[in-house]
Amino acid sequence: MNLVNRLALAVSFASLCTLTAQAAESKGSVEVVHYWTSGGEAKSADVLKQLIEKDGFTWQNSAVAGGGGAAAMTVLKTRAVSGNPPSAAQIKGPDIQEWGKLGLLTSIDNVAQANHWDTLLPPSIAELMKFDGHYVAVPLNIHRINWLWTNPDVLRKAGVAHAPTTLEELYAAGDKLKAAGFIAIAHGGQPWQDTTVFEGLVLSILGADGFKKAFIDNDEATFTGPKMTEVFVALRKLKTYMDPNGAGQDWNMETAKVINGQAGMQLMGDWAKSEWSAVGKKAGVDYECAPFPGTQGIYSYTIDSLAMFKLSSKNDTPGNNAARDDLAKIALEPQFQTVFNQNKGSIPVIKGLDMSPFDSCAQASAKDFAEAEKAGTLAPSMAFNMSTSQAVQGAVFDVVSNFMSNKDADPAKAGKQMFASIKAAAQ
Ligand code: GAL
Repeated sequence: MNLVNRLALAVSFASLCTLTAQAAESKGSVEVVHYWTSGGEAKSADVLKQLIEKDGFTWQNSAVAGGGGAAAMTVLKTRAVSGNPPSAAQIKGPDIQEWGKLGLLTSIDNVAQANHWDTLLPPSIAELMKFDGHYVAVPLNIHRINWLWTNPDVLRKAGVAHAPTTLEELYAAGDKLKAAGFIAIAHGGQPWQDTTVFEGLVLSILGADGFKKAFIDNDEATFTGPKMTEVFVALRKLKTYMDPNGAGQDWNMETAKVINGQAGMQLMGDWAKSEWSAVGKKAGVDYECAPFPGTQGIYSYTIDSLAMFKLSSKNDTPGNNAARDDLAKIALEPQFQTVFNQNKGSIPVIKGLDMSPFDSCAQASAKDFAEAEKAGTLAPSMAFNMSTSQAVQGAVFDVVSNFMSNKDADPAKAGKQMFASIKAAAQ
């Protein structure tokens, strides 16, 4: 083949590629803003990407690092204000209503009706996904927050017979782990991680009812009472068991310390399990899960959901709308619910899915959720956007992290400060 022919062939091959790329593009793309950037969580998000690509659409990954999502929310606000929203973003609980009120979300009732979401989802969860009676978001999972993750091998080496079930046992285990040279509690000193532990202590010391009085009813007496003082005293004590090198550390870096045997325990939501799974570790063998000490029978939770945005006129094409609808449809299909949640550490959000392919922690979680639902001990997490607005949550984060960083702060005053900050933020 001479040079001219070779060139002609190369050119026609290149134009074929362009055409194929255009064809792929013309089927539509869906851009998702989320904060699943740890190894295990990125693997989970990839499940969605693959299923969308299988349907011929393009997945635009807009992952913003930062556990708990504060950084992602900042990016999202900037994008929305400048008229360039993504197709979907990880927004939860009452915040969905806030975005709805701004007129920025779009209805996906067509997908919901065609796929019977009203019968597939528990009614209370379906309600959260609606604004003004219309579905504007799709839920992906249920994450339990009040968990304790342990490395049984490390506990054994330190002479701790079993995962602690009470706060007293937690302190005793912490003493033994420290004495044996381990980090007792892997913990990153970031406000949302501090607040995860604070919330666990509220549940442990005040129970589900006390938690609801505080973070749903904003009851002053609950914040100023002696039990709240106990919570702050316990928080200060737990700090003495936390990773001394944990300042500013990401949660997954801390999980890694439990996985590699440097630390014995971590108090964290069940996305922590995604890190264990991602490196092939097995529940009940390499690691164990137990309720946050003293919170047996209580189930605090968050529901990851993707809210759908009205697209800018440039992006509002039939193809992109079809891609968004495809994302919404896939999210509640059994295949996605099973594989995604196995990777993510959470449990499925749709009713009646077969739990036998899941590990023992997920099975325990599903059982505990059902029991807590019956007993009225489900606690929508404050730290993870289920019971308060972002402003109120931010006020709690500030009080908790200031308390954690000031060794002279008075535990008897912290509850009062929290109440005042919440009141100011809620106005
Ligand atoms: C939560 C979210 C989880 C996980 C975690 C750590 O808010 O629900 O999916 O990403 O933050 O970033």
